[in-house]
Amino acid sequence: MAIVIDGKALAAKCKQQVACEVKKLSGRPGLAVIIVGDNPASRTYVNSKKKDCEECGIYSEEYALLANSPQQELLELIELLNGRDDIDGILVQLPLPKGFEEQKVLLTIHPDKDVDSFHPVNVGRLVTGQKRFVPCTPAGVMEMLREYDIDPAGKHCVVVGRSNIVGKPMAMLLLEANGTVTICHSKTPDLGEVCRQADILVSAVGRRNLITADMIKDGAVVIDVAMNRDDAGKLCGDVDYATVSSKAAYITPVPGGVGPMTRAMLMKNTLTAARIHGK
Ligand code: GUN
Repeated sequence: MAIVIDGKALAAKCKQQVACEVKKLSGRPGLAVIIVGDNPASRTYVNSKKKDCEECGIYSEEYALLANSPQQELLELIELLNGRDDIDGILVQLPLPKGFEEQKVLLTIHPDKDVDSFHPVNVGRLVTGQKRFVPCTPAGVMEMLREYDIDPAGKHCVVVGRSNIVGKPMAMLLLEANGTVTICHSKTPDLGEVCRQADILVSAVGRRNLITADMIKDGAVVIDVAMNRDDAGKLCGDVDYATVSSKAAYITPVPGGVGPMTRAMLMKNTLTAARIHGK
């Protein structure tokens, strides 16, 4: 049976470390979270971010805009927050409702306040080995690997999914850690064939039971980034947990795996932002 990577416990430890570092700063870090529309999943995420900030001693503000707000209103709000010294990080919860130009919105966030690390300047920094912020979900995965002494160096790492939020930066971080990286996506002809070669498999697609036991090499490390719902409405990932966990050496559960780590890494990035701003 696979060792279960406990994201919840590790996230608590990471947040404690952030809280400890926050106390040493000359000023309190501040995070602004913007939510547009009423996507229930986004609402849940945003609520938990508020709680995380409280735990870490980080000041937080939340802005809720209506789904039919003009994009200009959102851009002006971001500009306003860019100019405030008490706000170190700005996060716009994605996905944005239809009609919003995501790239234009993300470009408006000042790169020094881009705690999601989605601005092209920060993406470029990551790719060229000059990173300051690391996108939260892939950063959380790397922390989990470190905590369990899993070194990607020399391993075949297969990332399923190529999103800007997870797949692409995940591949970059594994590459930086000297893994041999393959990225798979919806046009990959034989997903199972590639996945079976993985020493470390990261799935970030959003399709329940996409990864089955026959696609796993014995003793692989399986990281499930997805958040889906099963027919009963229960949270689940991409991985068929029951069967895969009997074949893998390590596995992350959903919930209680990557999710809490993503949130903890946002706190860490906000701490980094405060330091960049001289606090
Ligand atoms: N939506 C899903 N994941 C994320 C994330 O990491 N950051 C933001 N801003 N929105 C998201």
